[in-house]
Amino acid sequence: MFDRDEELELALKCVRSGVWIAILGLRMSGKTSLAKVVANELRREG
Ligand SMILES: Nc1ncnc2c1ncn2[C@@H]1O[C@H](COP(=O)(O)OP(=O)(O)OP(=O)(O)O)[C@@H](O)[C@H]1O
Ligand SMILES: [Mg+2]
Repeated sequence: MFDRDEELELALKCVRSGVWIAILGLRMSGKTSLAKVVANELRREG
């Protein structure tokens, strides 16, 4: 995930602690990609 370290860490921290998040942004800004990386990471953690 290129240049989205802060957003990725924040999203992981929120979801891990049970806080729902919304990923908002311009078209093609990488929202779906960020969500997929978060989902994969959480799945990997179990
Ligand atoms: N961090 C990133 N660095 C470089 N390219 C990226 C990054 N995130 C996404 N991309 C690329 O940008 C394009 C758009 O990404 P993505 O589909 O995740 O955006 P989106 O915000 O969900 O778009 P949409 O608004 O159409 O749903 C894709 O080709 C994806 O591979
Ligand atoms: Mg999308």
